[in-house]
Amino acid sequence: MGAGILETYREFLPVTDATPLITMGEGNTPLVKSNRLGKELGCDELYFKLEGCNPTGSFKDRGMVVAIAKALEDGSRAVMCASTGNTSASAAAYGAYCDLPVLVLIPKGEVAMGKLAQAMAYGARILMINGNFDSALALARAYTCKHSVTLVNSVNPHRLEGQKTGAFEIIESLGDAPDYLFIPVGNAGNITAYWRGFLEYQRAGRSLRLPKMMGFQAEGAAPIVRGAPVANPQTIASAIRIGNPASWQGAVDARDSSGGTIDMVSDDEILDAYRMIASKEGIFCEPASAASFAGLVKMCRQGLNLEGQRVVCIFTGNGLKDPDLAVRSVVSQTTEIEPTLEAVEAASLATAS
Ligand code: F0G
Repeated sequence: MGAGILETYREFLPVTDATPLITMGEGNTPLVKSNRLGKELGCDELYFKLEGCNPTGSFKDRGMVVAIAKALEDGSRAVMCASTGNTSASAAAYGAYCDLPVLVLIPKGEVAMGKLAQAMAYGARILMINGNFDSALALARAYTCKHSVTLVNSVNPHRLEGQKTGAFEIIESLGDAPDYLFIPVGNAGNITAYWRGFLEYQRAGRSLRLPKMMGFQAEGAAPIVRGAPVANPQTIASAIRIGNPASWQGAVDARDSSGGTIDMVSDDEILDAYRMIASKEGIFCEPASAASFAGLVKMCRQGLNLEGQRVVCIFTGNGLKDPDLAVRSVVSQTTEIEPTLEAVEAASLATAS
């Protein structure tokens, strides 16, 4: 393992003899068994897929490596994406690795600092617009229709092809698909890709079962749940602040063919989940990622019985991407003390005894 997505899964991907098998080490991310939260929810087999362990800290690298390889194969001279942050970080990194210029369109003031820092450091040309993600994506589509620049948002079919490999890895780790897959939904590409991955592995005889797909949007940005686009989406989880998802139909198909659900969670539920995952499992994911676990908690409260069920939550991105939010939203246990042993002893009493 560690050979990258293109090499490892080439028979399931649009790889030809002319496709450069580039890799920055994406994929093969840990599937960690819950030690505490699963027990609290009455679930003996709860797993977390740590997509924040990808090279740029999010699941986007799985799809980006395929999109960039195909762009190189097609002789593309530059790529463009609109983004709430992670896609731009990933495009910028793979572009830098392959010496391919990258243009990113982002909503001004709405991208977490860590993600913006990444795009800047990797050297992308960053265009900030006075508008939201949905307008940025519309502009990126219009621009790339008119100019010979490759669009690397998930409307590029190679992106979802790469992203489906997350489902392959879960099946390889567990020996079969889980009973439930909980996943955040923004532009709805990832839930579409995972469902495709589960179907393809089953068809290839590598798994027997299919999971129920459980997608979660943020309450203020829940167009699929409400059944209509949201003009001015709002949520603390900036990665999924999206009002008109490009893969809307794919998400609905995944829900309906799997017997799953697409529901929403409030910002408070997202933040509670975000804090619990970090303080009770030692996993620091970003707020949008915590929507998957927040959804699981909500379903359990509504009576979902997980006894004997295998459940996987996808943690799509690393918590370090949004450090401002962590500092603002977590009650810190920090105290300033004198640099003496007595002061350390006095301050540690409650914790260490
Ligand atoms: N989680 C994270 C951390 C994300 O960055 C995204 C999407 C999602 C979940 C939702 O996935 O869009 O496939 O439903 N981020 C995109 C971006 C929109 O521009 O980085 P989705």
